Amino acid sequence: MATEGQKVVLITGCSSGIGMGIAVMLARDEMKRYYVIATMRDLKRKDNLVEAAGDAYGRTLSLLTLDVCSDESVKQCVDSIKDRHIDILINNAGVGLVGPIEALSMDDMKRVFETNFYGAVRMIKEVMPDMKRRRSGHIVVISSVLGLHGVAFNDIYSASKFATEGLCEGLALQLLKFNVSVSMIEPGPVNTEFEMKLMADVSKKEFIGADAETLYHFRNCYLPTQVNLFQSLGQTPEDIAKVTKKVIESPCPPFRNLTNPLYTPIVALKYADETRSLSIHTFYHMLYNLGGVMDVSVRLMKYLTPGWLRRRTISPV
Ligand SMILES: NC(=O)c1ccc[n+]([C@@H]2O[C@H](COP(=O)([O-])OP(=O)(O)OC[C@H]3O[C@@H](n4cnc5c(N)ncnc54)[C@H](OP(=O)(O)O)[C@@H]3O)[C@@H](O)[C@H]2O)c1
Repeated sequence: MATEGQKVVLITGCSSGIGMGIAVMLARDEMKRYYVIATMRDLKRKDNLVEAAGDAYGRTLSLLTLDVCSDESVKQCVDSIKDRHIDILINNAGVGLVGPIEALSMDDMKRVFETNFYGAVRMIKEVMPDMKRRRSGHIVVISSVLGLHGVAFNDIYSASKFATEGLCEGLALQLLKFNVSVSMIEPGPVNTEFEMKLMADVSKKEFIGADAETLYHFRNCYLPTQVNLFQSLGQTPEDIAKVTKKVIESPCPPFRNLTNPLYTPIVALKYADETRSLSIHTFYHMLYNLGGVMDVSVRLMKYLTPGWLRRRTISPV
């Protein structure tokens, strides 16, 4: 149980990746400022987290079952917490989906929204009223750079993150009145199970319904570029955990937090041209014409990113 002065942090989706990284980092805080309630939909997947938490498990870290797609599960979990008191809610649980949309089932698309968007809404609905009443709290959402600009063949995932960003912008304004903060963490590629699950899904699917030309672009331009991006630019879950810790420890928590400096110019490009044509044509060129030399261009971008743009990113180091 949390001791006097400790902040209670509830995190969703802690069986792997970023959620697990944040749970471990906060639970192992040297000053023991956090009591972490790490949740996952299936506690059979707890072993990696328990091992990584070490002696923090049972002291500053406890586990609860929570499926963000179930009203009942969310309520049961929050009701089981002492006085339903949560100081910091970290909405991390998420799923991806790639492929030409004409070949994706409506059920798969709904599952993405049910988890990434409605999952966060469900959590916020359950936790926010108590925060408002106490006039204190912080809601953090693990969004994505794909919540800021769309990427080919990620349309539905990207749309779910755009929706989440819109939700948070509205809430951030309303909740200022109640001294409750809202922050979004916007990673680029992060090497977690996320990408592996997507690739496993892609290898099983035949993408029936997509024409041969689209499938060719998906398999021969998009997929290799994606693998390349993760290899060259991928951050670690610990990088994202460090950024998240900085954000929750800030006296005035920033609202938007890109974690990877290389994405700052890409996002800036979107706003540099009000018609947005510039960024669409740049991405088109990167995907279809530079695919083969993507690795080199990514490395070049790394060196060419101006310092002032880098400084606008919260660095994990
Ligand atoms: N990896 C990236 O490149 C990247 C980049 C930007 C943003 N993000 C975002 O970061 C977040 C975490 O992703 P990750 O990279 O850490 O991937 P991950 O390793 O696949 O972790 C996703 C977590 O979400 C959980 N989850 C899925 N559906 C759930 C549900 N209905 N209820 C509760 N938990 C559920 C998974 O649990 P199970 O073990 O039960 O499946 C898993 O613990 C996601 O929101 C993702 O969109 C990831």
